Amino acid sequence: MENKSLCCCHDVTLNDVMKQIENGVTTFEELQDKTGIGTDCPPCKENNEKLFYELLKEAKWLILNKQKPPCCRGGFIYMNMYSGNHW
Ligand code: FES
Repeated sequence: MENKSLCCCHDVTLNDVMKQIENGVTTFEELQDKTGIGTDCPPCKENNEKLFYELLKEAKWLILNKQKPPCCRGGFIYMNMYSGNHW
């Protein structure tokens, strides 16, 4: 699931977005600067901006509650993705 394409114009996947969050990106504008996501198509920007802030909110919650990822390979966000609660 993490390699799901989110932006075909700039070849950005869900995994790319999660990596940017793990690397400290905290705004959608910063994400756009780094990946180009949503910079050409308004629906792409709108949908991915919502998704980005949902992912960021989940990441902050997991950090604040000191949750650990279910495995070592993906970091904190994978936990919620595998649970199926968010998607
Ligand atoms: S599909 Fe993402 S900017 Fe066009």
